[in-house]
Amino acid sequence: MAIQTAGVVGLGTMGAGIVEVFARAGLEVVAVEVDDALLAAGQKRLEGSLGKAVDRGKLDAAERDAILGRVEFTIDRAALARADLVTEAVPERLDIKTALFADLDAICPPATILATNTSSLPVTRVATATGRPDRVLGMHFFNPAPVMRLVEVVHTVRTDADVVAAVRALAEKCGKTPVVVGDRAGFVANALLFGYLNAAARAAETGQAAVADIDAAVVAACGFPMGPLTLMDLIGLDVSLDVMETMFDETRDQRYAPAPLLRRLVMAGDLGRKTGRGYYRYDAGEALSVLPVPDFATGAARSTATVVMVTTTDSSIHAAMPGVDLVEPDDAADADVVIIDGGSRIRTAELLARVTRVAKAGAVIAIATTDEAPVLAMTAGIADRGYIVGVHVPHSPRPGVVEVVATVHSHPDAVATVVAAMREAGLSPIACRDRPGHVIDYLVLPHLGDAVRMVDDGYASQTDVDVAMTLGCGYPEGPFAMLAAVGADDARSVLSHLAAATHLPSLAPSALLDELAAAGPEDQ
Ligand code: 3HC
Repeated sequence: MAIQTAGVVGLGTMGAGIVEVFARAGLEVVAVEVDDALLAAGQKRLEGSLGKAVDRGKLDAAERDAILGRVEFTIDRAALARADLVTEAVPERLDIKTALFADLDAICPPATILATNTSSLPVTRVATATGRPDRVLGMHFFNPAPVMRLVEVVHTVRTDADVVAAVRALAEKCGKTPVVVGDRAGFVANALLFGYLNAAARAAETGQAAVADIDAAVVAACGFPMGPLTLMDLIGLDVSLDVMETMFDETRDQRYAPAPLLRRLVMAGDLGRKTGRGYYRYDAGEALSVLPVPDFATGAARSTATVVMVTTTDSSIHAAMPGVDLVEPDDAADADVVIIDGGSRIRTAELLARVTRVAKAGAVIAIATTDEAPVLAMTAGIADRGYIVGVHVPHSPRPGVVEVVATVHSHPDAVATVVAAMREAGLSPIACRDRPGHVIDYLVLPHLGDAVRMVDDGYASQTDVDVAMTLGCGYPEGPFAMLAAVGADDARSVLSHLAAATHLPSLAPSALLDELAAAGPEDQ
């Protein structure tokens, strides 16, 4: 059954993008909105997107005209009767979707396939609003729909195999890669994405680090096309909130309970890029964070600081800064910044005691911290802790990110001086508070752990997960390749610690992660 005519209901950013995808693939499209104003706005979106493609030389004017010529814009839903498949991108509310599907069931001939582009609502519930649950499924596109190559094809326990095959073929005809999965909240990509996005929302809200720093650090650590807060602004904070609510309802996992500030931003009407304001403001030519930069990250760096390192081990910090001179503790007297890595909490504390005896007044001391040991736990007995900060090399898939960890005592100038020294050494530093997992381990490792758990649950294959995250979210490699780069054993031990420190059992490693960790690097 080849689909030649498609209907799309709802012409916001996503709906207009889906119209573009279908029309570019040569389908006739019936594009429907509820009133003339929304219809005109949807038409403008499509014309704007195609206009940009013409301006960039990606499309010629004749092709644009042919694409537009294939689209009928109407507020008359009855026109959908001529479509072979109707999909929708109306607001993420079950009452709205079920009412629409009941209506579509009455309008469309019995053979028409009805698809929902829901982000996370139960497709099964939408299907049961019709008299044809065997011809209903999810066809989930990703923002921006014309660009992202993933389409999740979501079948329920009632969907006909022929219908799944027809929609899979349609996705392929549109140049997309379909991943076929069952009906579970968030499907593959959103279920993985939104735990991570919510963790970023909480990190921003609690001032774990500055918003722009969180985004920059994740991009540097993982090679993602955008940081999590920028991505939420792209998706829409209202849509993000809806997805988290649905995920939380289904899983009862605290990690999906929406960050309170996210809810307030939505209440304020700050929905992200589409309203010009979300975690960032978009009215000044560049994206500016709307949240204040935390105090610890506002210091003035001491310029031309001399940096030395005191370490007795195969230090990850020394590996990250190989150009820094290694000295004995007693020879650190002239340095402006002394980095100490004793390899263990006790040894670092001993070296710190020796360095503080000789260090010149005002020298900044940066001590290596692990996920398990808070910086202040290693500074007991030292009178002035204002010039002591932590440094942490996160377990990131890509090297180069270093966390400069501020304690409650750390002077902002000390933090800024170490940040500047790290930048000088060619690293990507991020100033953050001393909290479990700091920034990168806290955001990224649970994300990878969730991917492993999803495979362990039997919901999706490793390939499905990798395809979903690379083609749906633009990741340079899938979560399993990222996990191999981090090392499953290290990821496992950090996640065990995070689960205990945060009292969030869903962070604990799954049995499959235990297995991967036991298997060693060559088997991952
Ligand atoms: N519409 C159409 N085309 C667009 C576009 C848009 N809104 N935005 C960008 N493009 C096109 C550009 O024209 C350009 O095309 P070209 O290569 O043919 O010239 C291409 O995309 C790259 O654009 P830019 O160079 O301007 O920008 P970037 O290279 O920075 O890429 C991005 C922009 C594609 C958005 C990239 O940053 C990205 O992949 N981000 C991640 C997006 C993501 O994760 N999406 C999924 C969100 S989850 C979701 O949607 C599910 C839902 O249920 C919540």
